[in-house]
Amino acid sequence: SRIFYGRKLFGDYDLKVEQAQFSEINLSTCSSMGTTVEIRKSRPDHHTRSAFQPDFVLIRQHVKNISNDYTNIVLGLRNGGVASVNSLDSIFNFLDKPWVFAHLIRIQRKIGKNKFPLISQSYYPNFKEMLVTPHFPVVVKMGHGHSGLGKVKVDHHYGFQDIASVAAMTNSYSTTELLIDSQCDIFVQKIGTNIRAFKRKCMSGNWKASMGAVILEPMPMNERYKSWVDECSKLFGGLDMMCIQIMQGKDGKEYIVEMNDSTMSILGSSQSEDYKLVVDLVISKMEQSSTFHKFLSFASNF
Ligand SMILES: Nc1ncnc2c1ncn2[C@@H]1O[C@H](COP(=O)(O)OP(=O)(O)OP(=O)(O)O)[C@@H](O)[C@H]1O
Ligand SMILES: [Mg+2]
Repeated sequence: SRIFYGRKLFGDYDLKVEQAQFSEINLSTCSSMGTTVEIRKSRPDHHTRSAFQPDFVLIRQHVKNISNDYTNIVLGLRNGGVASVNSLDSIFNFLDKPWVFAHLIRIQRKIGKNKFPLISQSYYPNFKEMLVTPHFPVVVKMGHGHSGLGKVKVDHHYGFQDIASVAAMTNSYSTTELLIDSQCDIFVQKIGTNIRAFKRKCMSGNWKASMGAVILEPMPMNERYKSWVDECSKLFGGLDMMCIQIMQGKDGKEYIVEMNDSTMSILGSSQSEDYKLVVDLVISKMEQSSTFHKFLSFASNF
C-alpha cells in the first residue's frame, strides 16, 4: 500500500488503501448495498480488524494455488459490483491454466502458427487418460500450480506411468508439453499501456529457469512481441495487466508457454517504475469508474 502514498483522485481526493492477503479477508454482499469486506490481521501481539466497503480492488495474489482456493472471495466482490484491476470477469477466467491456454490456441488458429508460436500441449482431464504420450522427454504440469509447483520432467514411459499414478491421488487435470532445451525464459509484460520485455536466465542448472539464482536482463521490444500483447490483452473483455511467458530454445526458436494476469510477478530492475505504472493504472481506472462519478455527483449536492 506504500506505493499509493501521497496519490489523489483528480489530484484532489485522498485514497484510503488497505492491503491484505486473501486468507485475511472475509466479506458479505447484499445485492442492494454492495460488498462489506472485513480484514483480520494476526500480528504476534494482537489481532487487528477493519470493516469497510471497497470502491476498487487491485488483485495481485493468485486466486487459486495448490492448497487454497479463494474463488469464494472473488464471487463476493463481483456480486457487490466492486470495480477492479484486472476486471473480476477476467480474473475468473484465469482460475484454470488450461482454460487460458485454450484461448491462446484460439489466437494461434486465428493468426497462424508462424505468427503466434504457441508450445504444443496435451490436456488430460484426469489420470485415466494418461496412458501414452507421443514424445519424451516431456514436462507434466499437474493442476493449477504457480512458482513451478506441480511440474515434473519425465524422461521415459515408466516415469510417465509413475506420474499418472500420482495424478490419480490428486483428482486434478494435467497437461504435458515437449521438454524444450531452453536457454532462457522471456517475459513480455503489459501494465496499462506500457509494454516491456525481459529475459530470465537460470544459474542453478535446473530445467525450471525459475529455480535458484536467476539473472534478469531487460530486452528490446519488437513488433512480434507487441502483436502478441495486442492479441492476448483483448481476451476476457480486456486485460489491463498481463504477462506472456515465452521460452527460447538453444536454437533460438521461441515458444509461447503461458499468460498470467494482474497477479503476475513484477521483477527486475524496473520494478519500482512498474509499481508506479500500476498505481497510475489503478487511479485512471478509479477516475473512470461509475462508483466514483456517483460519489462526485452526491458530494456536489452538498
Ligand atoms: N515445456 C517446457 N520445457 C522446458 N522447460 C519448461 C517447460 N515448461 C516450463 N519450463 C520451465 O519451467 C519453469 C516453470 O514453468 P511454468 O511457468 O509453466 O510454471 P509456473 O508454475 O507458472 O511457474 P512460474 O510461476 O515461475 O511462471 C519455466 O520458467 C521454464 O523455465
Ligand atoms: Mg509460469
